[in-house]
Amino acid sequence: MVRDPSDPAALQEAVRRLQAGELVAFATETVYGLGADASRDEAVARIFEAKGRPSDHPLIVHVPDASRVGDFAASVPPFAQKLIDAFWPGPLTLILPRRPEVARAAAGGQSSIGLRCPSHPVAHALLRACADAQPPVPGLAAPSANKFGRVSPTSAQHVASEFGDGLLVLDGGPCEVGIESAIVDCTRGRPVLLRPGVLTAAQIESACGEPLVRPEDLPGAPRASGTLEAHYAPRAKVRLMDARGLQTALDLLGGQAANIATYSRAILQTRSERVLRRRMPDDAVEAARQLFAVLRDFDDQGVQLIWVEAPPEDAEWDGVRDRLARAAAA
Ligand code: TXA
Ligand code: MG
Repeated sequence: MVRDPSDPAALQEAVRRLQAGELVAFATETVYGLGADASRDEAVARIFEAKGRPSDHPLIVHVPDASRVGDFAASVPPFAQKLIDAFWPGPLTLILPRRPEVARAAAGGQSSIGLRCPSHPVAHALLRACADAQPPVPGLAAPSANKFGRVSPTSAQHVASEFGDGLLVLDGGPCEVGIESAIVDCTRGRPVLLRPGVLTAAQIESACGEPLVRPEDLPGAPRASGTLEAHYAPRAKVRLMDARGLQTALDLLGGQAANIATYSRAILQTRSERVLRRRMPDDAVEAARQLFAVLRDFDDQGVQLIWVEAPPEDAEWDGVRDRLARAAAA
């Protein structure tokens, strides 16, 4: 059930469930998370089960503030500390060497651990209440609260529609960022960008004082599941085209009725009354905010094919381009 976390009873109930090893979904500034006590392997196992996700996929552990990093990480390289100082709380996940005795299941058995301190007040209130509870829950392992391979949820209703009424969802309204956090692997001596987010490569580089390495430049680097192609996919097929290709495709369709939607910055003309046309914002941050809700909305309307105008090549569009490329690869 969806509950308003400003009701103290809702927050208490969430903490009680997490202490009991159960799952609770909660708002973050990026997307909604499906949380469990990161220190308990059997609680973490429930996440994999609920999502239908292979259990060797590592999860991100969420902490209320930077002082908890040492609970999970064995060491923090200086460039990683600079990233924490610059962007926490916020939409940045760091992969750090794991303390071998903690969070083995959450880390998917890897010797590293993904850590993130979210800025959303609901996530923060929950993490704080968990850390202060007796017995304490020091961190929440939380992947995006969607079934494996599907589009991440950016509202409490998205989560409830996928998991049903038994799951407690702490509602924090629509997510401001709208796409998942940027992930920087800090275990390789140099920062490696595993997943782009709304923070640009330039912002990350200037904060840590080092150039970002791309995973494709590092042979043998482990691939994050977020880097699998065919991730973040709506049920409808997604095709990326430039604005001219899109208009040509619509012209070829003519007046035929078809379950097709377009999502473009360009204004498109069509003679088909059935084609849904939505404008993509010109601003990359706004486009990220809307992206997953738009894809879900097309699915809800029974669209079978989504024709998307490829976003600009500029760095601030990296996150949106990445998610759309994966959706199109499904
Ligand atoms: O914005 C976000 O990061 C959201 C919210 C809920 O915080 N969470 C999220 O989690 O996107 P998830 O599980 O859907 O994505 C986690 C990504 C995966 O691609 C996973 O492979 C990678 O993080 N990851 C986690 N721990 C890792 C590790 N130790 N080494 C490499 N990749 C890791
Ligand atoms: Mg996910």
